[in-house]
Amino acid sequence: MPGSPADRLARLADGYLVTQLLHVAVALGVPDALAAGARNAPDLARELGAVPDVLHRVLRGLAAEEVLEELPDGRFALSPVGELLRAGVPGSLRGAVAARGGLYYRSAAELFAAVRDGGTPFELAEGRPFFDALAAEPARLAAFRASMADRSAREAGAVVAAYDVSGFASVVDVGGGSGALLRAVRERAPSADVLLFDRPEVVAGSDLPAVGGDFFAQVPAGSDAYLLSRVLHDWDDDAARRVLTVCRVAMRPDSVLLVVEAVLPERAVDDPAAVRMDLHVLVLLRGRERTAAEYAALCAAAGLRLTRDVPTEAGVHVLEVRPA
Ligand SMILES: C[S@@+](CC[C@H](N)C(=O)[O-])C[C@H]1O[C@@H](n2cnc3c(N)ncnc32)[C@H](O)[C@@H]1O
Repeated sequence: MPGSPADRLARLADGYLVTQLLHVAVALGVPDALAAGARNAPDLARELGAVPDVLHRVLRGLAAEEVLEELPDGRFALSPVGELLRAGVPGSLRGAVAARGGLYYRSAAELFAAVRDGGTPFELAEGRPFFDALAAEPARLAAFRASMADRSAREAGAVVAAYDVSGFASVVDVGGGSGALLRAVRERAPSADVLLFDRPEVVAGSDLPAVGGDFFAQVPAGSDAYLLSRVLHDWDDDAARRVLTVCRVAMRPDSVLLVVEAVLPERAVDDPAAVRMDLHVLVLLRGRERTAAEYAALCAAAGLRLTRDVPTEAGVHVLEVRPA
């Protein structure tokens, strides 16, 4: 019976198929091909270079999940959910879908081994750490960057709306990725000197002022403000403390560090997205999302103090941190 516990459980168990249905749609370019209007499977298969019968069954799978709409004449159209798979639309989740299906997927199958024996699922699946794998494979780095850029585009506006950055004269975005947050800060503080700091392969080709390096070794010193957005959650406590210590060394006594992260809720159902992100970083990096108290303790261990916890409309918090 639809809606029964058995039906719910069956759908949850089939999540592995749904992840791949979404990934296939994005990898083939189905959402963008449907942007101009409904199409049938043979027509789409011809344009996108797919096997018509298999594509038809994939499209039906997506229709069953209400990502596509199946019209009475057999054509398929984008539903409001499917619209978010298009490239470049506001709130697009295209990059997030591509990363889950093409980059994270195999690692999740190692969660059982990790829960039983320890280790990092991604490394068990792929034989090397996550960021090393990205550095060696440009296509996967591009998929990860697209996913980060989608999420960051959603969060950046909310962060600068919640926390006043207009007084900053200089800002370094540590592990800044695509620099979406740094761009949002620059819009609010147009005369600020901004600097993107990330791994060399990530900053290569950036249109922002950028420096490549390793945030476990050194970050540019003496800036008014430092951003650490969705960086600490990638690391266990020891590594996160080392990143914070490197930032502390670079900061002036009056510098401020803005840590942008989800804050774990008391009960999982109060913020399922934060709990799922905790599992993503577990699978990929053995990182962790944390409570505000855990961030305060981590900061204290690095000679810093958490001075404010500012929630944003996007779910992430801005944790204002200053030298202790
Ligand atoms: C989860 S992403 C967050 C990106 C961005 N701050 C955002 O909010 O979208 C983590 C970033 O840390 C960078 N990173 C990982 N290890 C690093 C290292 N050792 N030194 C500098 N950056 C590093 C990655 O390249 C990636 O861009």
